[in-house]
Amino acid sequence: MTSTAQAPQSGAASAHPDHLGHVIFIAAAAAMGGFLFGYDSSVINGAVEAIRDRYDIGSAALAQVIAIALIGCAIGAATAGRIADRIGRIRCMQISAVLFTVSAIGSALPFSLYDLAFWRVIGGFAIGMASVIGPAYIAEVAPPAYRGRLGSFQQAAIVIGIAISQLVNWGLLNAAGGDQRGELMGLEAWQVMLGVMVIPAVLYGLLSFAIPESPRFLISVGKHERAREILTEVEGDKIDLDARVAEIEHAMKSEHKSSFRDLLGGSFFFKPIVWIGIGLSVFQQFVGINVAFYYSSTLWQSVGVDPTDSFFYSFTTSIINIVGTVIAMIFVDRVGRKPLALIGSVGMVIGLALEAWAFSFDLVDGKLPATQGWIALIAAHVFVLFFALSWGVVVWVFLGEMFPNKLRAAALGVAAAAQWIANWAITASFPSLAEWNLSLTYVIYTAFAALSIPFVLKYVKETKGKTLEEMG
Ligand code: GLC
Repeated sequence: MTSTAQAPQSGAASAHPDHLGHVIFIAAAAAMGGFLFGYDSSVINGAVEAIRDRYDIGSAALAQVIAIALIGCAIGAATAGRIADRIGRIRCMQISAVLFTVSAIGSALPFSLYDLAFWRVIGGFAIGMASVIGPAYIAEVAPPAYRGRLGSFQQAAIVIGIAISQLVNWGLLNAAGGDQRGELMGLEAWQVMLGVMVIPAVLYGLLSFAIPESPRFLISVGKHERAREILTEVEGDKIDLDARVAEIEHAMKSEHKSSFRDLLGGSFFFKPIVWIGIGLSVFQQFVGINVAFYYSSTLWQSVGVDPTDSFFYSFTTSIINIVGTVIAMIFVDRVGRKPLALIGSVGMVIGLALEAWAFSFDLVDGKLPATQGWIALIAAHVFVLFFALSWGVVVWVFLGEMFPNKLRAAALGVAAAAQWIANWAITASFPSLAEWNLSLTYVIYTAFAALSIPFVLKYVKETKGKTLEEMG
């Protein structure tokens, strides 16, 4: 870890970029990985029934085929940091784009169930990589005054990816006469749903050639001249370039590549800062956000919505998710990350507690009594809104910027891997928990939302406006 006390000060925190439009383009291109992350993790919802039918498998086997992609995500996230530190952030994006492309083709045209599972794992690996490289790269390229807003492009892209996949699934399903196995362009509808991802995957790959390598990576491999050019390109020419480079170099302790060993220390295996990153990831998932997306039909059906219309209704949840994300983008650099996280936690506790209350009433013919049904529905959307305007954005921004330079890639990899494992734990356990007691399941999520408040107050440090070199 470095202390800026001895580091040269460049005054970059107040520097304004001369080419904000260019910086926005760079961040948006890198966030394409987030779009694929959102699209790929949610597109499968449109294909599950067809996969069950085509391969004649039961629910347990189906759940395995779906969940296995999340294991690929965890492995991709855990390894992305090392890859990015060795061959660069841009090459890492290109590898991820290639994997996304082959996985889209492979999963759309599988020879067998195992083949499909294999390609889903490869796709998962690519998502895991994209989930690490996007926030790390954006944080490293963004000028400090705009870093929160530019960092939130990642989450904005994720939520747009989720929304578009719901729309595409809905459109393709209708075109195929409401049957996931109905014929479409010579294939079955579900194959087209999975195959469509080739388009954004190729676009991601192409865009990665149009954006510069991270100046911090370039300095770590001794390419100072190129790093200086890029720093001027993104932070403007009013900064003291020599001091800026010296500051970064000092923080990187020259040519240091982060490794897993650097993350260890303290009395609890990892360094405290790594635990805080893991904690943020785990809380983000343990409030049950992906239950709201992956199992939304449970909710809609409990208020009497027809199961075939559920894709359309899930899209309304996505709209709320997008609105919340825009609110967070406006405020993340103004009020800071911590206040947003705390406001979000309070709102999530209210939404989740109301859901727990509503689901404590008995279902009649699979439906809640009318009043409780509507309260459950509104409460679920209050929860999604508060998640989106806080933890959705803030966690990815924090993970991109909270670690010291020399730990960033590896630490972010571990924290993101923890997030995928937590995501898997919540989504895999929800069906059995819901069968056991839906109301108490929401009580558990409420408890995690409540616990996130003291966690943030006690352990999380505000990162708003600081240079990356001032972290740690
Ligand atoms: C965050 C979470 C992701 C979730 C999404 C929902 O990106 O990391 O798991 O699906 O928010 O908007």
